[in-house]
Amino acid sequence: MLLQNDRLLKAIKKEKLDRTPVWIMRQAGRYLPEYRKTRSQAGSFMHLCQTPELACEVTLQPIRRYNLDAAIIFSDILTIPHAMGLGLQFIEGQGPIFTQPLRDAAAIKNLQLPTLDQLSYVYQAIHLVQRELNGRVPLIGFCGSPWTLALYMLEGKAAHGFPKALAMCQSQPALFHHLLHLLADAIVLHLKGQIDAGVQVVMLFDSWAGLAKNAQVYESLSLFYIKAVIEQIKTYNELKQKAVPIILFAKGGGGWLHALGASGCDVLGLDWEVSLSEARKWVGEQVSLQGNLNPAHLLGSEQNIRLAVKELLADYGSGSGHIFNLGHGITPDVPPENVQILIDSVHEYSRAHHR
Ligand code: CP3
Repeated sequence: MLLQNDRLLKAIKKEKLDRTPVWIMRQAGRYLPEYRKTRSQAGSFMHLCQTPELACEVTLQPIRRYNLDAAIIFSDILTIPHAMGLGLQFIEGQGPIFTQPLRDAAAIKNLQLPTLDQLSYVYQAIHLVQRELNGRVPLIGFCGSPWTLALYMLEGKAAHGFPKALAMCQSQPALFHHLLHLLADAIVLHLKGQIDAGVQVVMLFDSWAGLAKNAQVYESLSLFYIKAVIEQIKTYNELKQKAVPIILFAKGGGGWLHALGASGCDVLGLDWEVSLSEARKWVGEQVSLQGNLNPAHLLGSEQNIRLAVKELLADYGSGSGHIFNLGHGITPDVPPENVQILIDSVHEYSRAHHR
């Protein structure tokens, strides 16, 4: 499919651009009244995810409203554990909960890879979105990292610090690695399914990278498996004669930038605790960078949002290779008009950095 707006892909390849591309993590979400309406019609978050027409509708909502440079398929990283039988539920105000979390060795040993059939609602939604987008902007597919998924599956919910999961990781390392290995295979399967359905970019969310206690632990428990996933996606690209690039978002991974940059990913997504100019020094020309405005800036005044955007663009500096985004997902309390201000100021201020 010929893309009318290929800024995202050009920034990934560090090709010359007119301005910096911009999209927003969780751009389809509760800050948008049209999302809240579709969400309440759907009844539950899972029904919204699993009904391709509804998932397609909410994917397109931010694209209709704003001049964004990418769409991201509406789904969740926890659909894989759900397909593996853990029973995902979203309870208002509590976030995700599994009805069958992994509580013992037998539960982990009995886990099976999901089938493509169990996740086919995601691929159907991708087909619908691509038909509607008709090349307007590229579509991003995604998965969680093995480490981040394992933490949720062992904990059973998003508990602060994931104490049960980390205790299990300490006490039964071989079993923990068995789980990570299985998850890496499941993630590869799901990313291939999304690529076959037509996404132009894939993203891996290592949202809890920062919970690894040091670089060595991160390398062996998270990055090792991320690299295996990236390797297999690259091989798949060759096989299919495609070139679907990989964005790796590692929240809290600022201490291991060098290792992240050498993971084989094409783009490194960063949270706001890292300075883009520092990161650029660490990862050099190996990868492009995505991020990393603190989402809290979107609660400020117009003047402050514009200033924050200007400063962030200046921090990256000149040239291609930057994709403007937040450093984490947009929060439900953000006024939608502030997102417009952010996008307009990226458009306005970034041109000077591409001369
Ligand atoms: O617009 C997009 O970015 C695409 C959709 C998307 C969702 N979740 C929809 C969603 C994406 C890319 C995700 C990824 C995701 N899901 C991550 C990684 C990114 C990150 O935030 O670190 C994680 C950790 C999850 C797991 C998850 N899903 C949590 C912890 C929650 C509850 C937190 C919350 O914001 O309530 C969700 C629910 C969820 N996933 C919502 C949305 C729009 C809100 C739920 C609702 O509408 O009721």
